[in-house]
Amino acid sequence: MTKLRLEGYVIASADGMLADSHNVMPASLKFPGDAAFFSSALDGADLIVHGRNSYEDQPNSPKRKRLVVTRSVAGIAPDTEKPHSVLWNPAGAPFEQACAAAGVTSGTVAIIGGPVVFDMFMDRYDTFFLSFAPHVTIPGGAPCFTEVGPGRSPQQVLTAHGLSPANQLMLDPAHEVSVTAWKRAA
Ligand SMILES: NC(=O)c1ccc[n+]([C@@H]2O[C@H](COP(=O)([O-])OP(=O)(O)OC[C@H]3O[C@@H](n4cnc5c(N)ncnc54)[C@H](OP(=O)(O)O)[C@@H]3O)[C@@H](O)[C@H]2O)c1
Repeated sequence: MTKLRLEGYVIASADGMLADSHNVMPASLKFPGDAAFFSSALDGADLIVHGRNSYEDQPNSPKRKRLVVTRSVAGIAPDTEKPHSVLWNPAGAPFEQACAAAGVTSGTVAIIGGPVVFDMFMDRYDTFFLSFAPHVTIPGGAPCFTEVGPGRSPQQVLTAHGLSPANQLMLDPAHEVSVTAWKRAA
């Protein structure tokens, strides 16, 4: 039996968006303090999971083991485009099997988006690190989780899936950007 710890990471605008109307993360959502927090967290993770358009593109990215979620393969297949990377279709192979194919059977898995990929693990996160930019709005943007919408914030979605806010860390005092660790009761 594998023992994997699942962590989610996203930065969302005040209106719950992670990207703009063209599905691109805008400059208004990029803060050096959050980028440093995110990069350091990924350096500590044993495996990263993300969709095709959510490669984190940081200096240490080529060193990191990763699963790329896609329907373009039947189950599990090597990724010829990136080092230490495996393509995974959840419809064709269990998560633990994909992790093992990437060489990971225990430790911390960081789920880094986009929305459909976050949703796949919504009832499994041990901790979800929600960075929040309270002075940024992205009208017509892409919600950070598919359940986010008018009258339903990212915080409400995490609560509905059994997570509660625990520690908070200020990442950028000038812009009041902080990250909150949402934890599942043991
Ligand atoms: N603000 C943040 O913290 C943050 C975090 C993450 C991403 N982003 C931004 O959000 C944007 C990316 O969003 P995106 O929606 O394009 O997300 P994405 O997760 O990068 O891309 C969607 C992925 O989901 C896969 N997929 C969709 N349905 C699937 C299914 N039923 N089974 C298996 N795979 C499935 C797609 O695979 P195929 O199409 O290959 O089948 C694709 O790889 C980017 O601009 C990124 O920078 C921002």
